[in-house]
Amino acid sequence: MKIVLGSDHAGFNLKEEIKKHLGKMSENGLEVIDFGTNSSAISVDYPDIAITVAESVANKTYDKGILVCGTGIGMSIAANKVPGAYAALVCSVEMARLCRAHNNANILALGGRTTKLEDALAMVDAWLNTDFDEGRHSRRVGKIKNYESCKVSDSCHKKLNIIEHPLVKHKVGIIRDKKTTVKEFRELVQEIAGLMVYEITRNLVLEEVKVETPITETIAYSIAGKKMAIVPILRAGLGMVDGILQLIPNAKVGHVGLYRDPETLEPVEYYCKLPGDIEERDIFILDPMLATGGSAAAAIELVKRRGGKKITLVCLIAAPEGVNKVHSHHPDVEIYTAALDDHLNDHGYIVPGLGDAGDRLFGTR
Ligand code: RB5
Repeated sequence: MKIVLGSDHAGFNLKEEIKKHLGKMSENGLEVIDFGTNSSAISVDYPDIAITVAESVANKTYDKGILVCGTGIGMSIAANKVPGAYAALVCSVEMARLCRAHNNANILALGGRTTKLEDALAMVDAWLNTDFDEGRHSRRVGKIKNYESCKVSDSCHKKLNIIEHPLVKHKVGIIRDKKTTVKEFRELVQEIAGLMVYEITRNLVLEEVKVETPITETIAYSIAGKKMAIVPILRAGLGMVDGILQLIPNAKVGHVGLYRDPETLEPVEYYCKLPGDIEERDIFILDPMLATGGSAAAAIELVKRRGGKKITLVCLIAAPEGVNKVHSHHPDVEIYTAALDDHLNDHGYIVPGLGDAGDRLFGTR
């Protein structure tokens, strides 16, 4: 493991002690890199060191970082401005342990003027020797990551749900791989869509029902109304339909077909067939890739014009540009995605993405 250290003048002495302490662990494969400062006598500005260290941890040049200033406060505030850096200012061994177990903090901030040497070293040890607990903490930390990686407005964050389940992430990793065959790709898209059903149906309303078990009568729950519609956007959205129907087999299926006008580049409807009572249904519009958001926004518009009210957009991979577009046109629509990627390239493909989902589903390339 590679650990990067940094301090200002006020944290210099403690940083040096930590360096010595960690130096004793070099046989265990611990490598220590010191970004300075190199004296307690010359005053320096903590943000300069904090940001350099935080960037080197966020971009994974180093595995973890330790920052020391007078109180640890300035270092932690500055480091936490760097996306991907999660700095925890701790003042006890328990906090040092919990900031790993619950918060997955990759940077430890300490106060050189406020912490006794022996306590500080014990905090460093606790922090280094504790792993992230994952589970429910992954979901919470994931929300912080989503916030920082989504270059969209605050209201949008509340309507953007990124599925953090390990199985979903694992399968998304496989469909990204260009070596994955058409058959595997098709199966995995169905599986991911199926797994996402648990999240996208989380807010369905339940009603109490009386049930007689072999032992006694009891109150159980049933989904109220049970009126759902899934609406794939042709053609790639079709790849998600069966996975969802396996879990909600009574859902009605509508279809929306859009093509891009080569001159205006605007999406144009060529097919739309929706369940007759669409206005009463919870509607899940399906499209594996939310890239520019043009088709998704147009499909939502189309469904709304036919009376659709409660609309959720379900995709596998989204780009921030697409999320922005959908939410600027339809702020009421909740988006669920299995991954939020970095950006669109000049050809409108999501980066890193997985290429063209339609071609990969149907083997048309
Ligand atoms: C430097 O005097 C001091 O302000 C700095 O080390 C740090 O404590 C800031 O948060």
